[in-house]
Amino acid sequence: MAGNSNFQSNNKVVNWIEERMPIFSLIDGSLGASYPAPKNLNYWWNFGSLAGLALVIQIVTGIVLVMHYTPNTELAFDSVEHIMRDVNYGWLLRYVHANGASMFFIVVYIHIFRGLYFGSYKAPRELLWILGVVILILMMATAFMGYVLPWGQMSFWGAKVITNLFSAVPVVGDSLVQWLWGGFAVDNPTLQRFFSLHYLLPFVIAGVVILHIWALHKHGSNNPLGIDVKSPQDTVGFHPYYTAKDLFGIGVFILVFAYFVFFNPNYLGHADNYIPANPLLTPASIVPEWYFLPFYAILRSITFSISIPFTDIVLIDAKLLGVLAMFGSLAVLIALPWLDRSPVRSSRFRPMYRWFFWILVIDSFILGYVGAQKPEGIMPTLGLIGTAYYFFHFLVLLPFIMPKYEKDTKLPESISNPVIK
Ligand code: HEM
Repeated sequence: MAGNSNFQSNNKVVNWIEERMPIFSLIDGSLGASYPAPKNLNYWWNFGSLAGLALVIQIVTGIVLVMHYTPNTELAFDSVEHIMRDVNYGWLLRYVHANGASMFFIVVYIHIFRGLYFGSYKAPRELLWILGVVILILMMATAFMGYVLPWGQMSFWGAKVITNLFSAVPVVGDSLVQWLWGGFAVDNPTLQRFFSLHYLLPFVIAGVVILHIWALHKHGSNNPLGIDVKSPQDTVGFHPYYTAKDLFGIGVFILVFAYFVFFNPNYLGHADNYIPANPLLTPASIVPEWYFLPFYAILRSITFSISIPFTDIVLIDAKLLGVLAMFGSLAVLIALPWLDRSPVRSSRFRPMYRWFFWILVIDSFILGYVGAQKPEGIMPTLGLIGTAYYFFHFLVLLPFIMPKYEKDTKLPESISNPVIK
């Protein structure tokens, strides 16, 4: 549904370029007045453009940081301190980059839950959704490797815990971990390869974002009613309506971002990462960044193995099961367009789904909370219940229970009807 642009200009240079490479009509057809967007998009539709901005901020600040950073275990920690103290505005660059990662995840998580609420993953937008999940996985890998670079205590021990997970893979596990490390421990080769990949992956993400937008523009945006655009009456030109709305969102985003950077720059980080990495001293607790906490809780919640009944033969041990559950929590997102069988997209017309959506949101917060705590007292049980509910939502409720009991309310005839009313 990318608009067929009728781009015209009086500027000779623009026309000269357009004649040889129709880039202006491409922009006009995808971001300009010629791109028809549903006229009822609300503020939840701001988060895609915000994610794009967050990606650009990370790439730009990252490239400048690299000019002063040294990826070597002997020098990395000091080079970050050098950036903070000696480089002109180095503190600003670093705080924008470090808090920018958090802002990026906040924006993308809201973007994902928006998709879940309004059923944006349903046909014909399945591939758009799957490309989104691919972006999420790439973002997680990038953020994990970036966190290792300052070579503080959390960098080192986080890298150790997470890379060690791969030792749970049957038969080849230990070799796999050594291959990841580039040696027999988390050491200089590990830091250097993480640096190399941390630089590369954002550009891969940018490539996948282009595919994401391409897939989006084939059928156009979903909307809060979740019904298809039926006539030109249902749409407005992207420019100036949504360019202005996106700019407003960017203003609010920058205010929140600036609060963290200028008033609370270490709030989202961990104090232990200001201690240089020491392989001989394990920190009291090893906690990942907040955006990994729900996944970390799922990983740790499995403390039992699966064995053949009445024997000692272990089929899948607890560690492997935890790793499978963690990766499984992302895999169910990929399968979601086929797990949710309701033809109705928006939760507005699915009262029962709406309830379960909010329970899933609460469940994610509970998992995040559990991920931040020591696995003592009630926490492991809470983690297990949270994990079980997460999978229950996607693997049982959506495909089997909801189709039986759900009663949808009537869909409006068109987007313009309720809007004009
Ligand atoms: C770098 C990260 C990402 C960027 C830059 C990005 C960008 C965008 C943009 C600009 C839009 C159109 C505006 C909007 O609907 O908000 C969009 C739509 C969409 N995105 Fe993303 N996205 C990212 C990550 C994700 C992720 C992780 C998912 C899901 C797992 C996802 C799923 C979707 C879906 C389903 C739509 C269509 C929404 C609709 O039309 O209702 N995106 N994305």
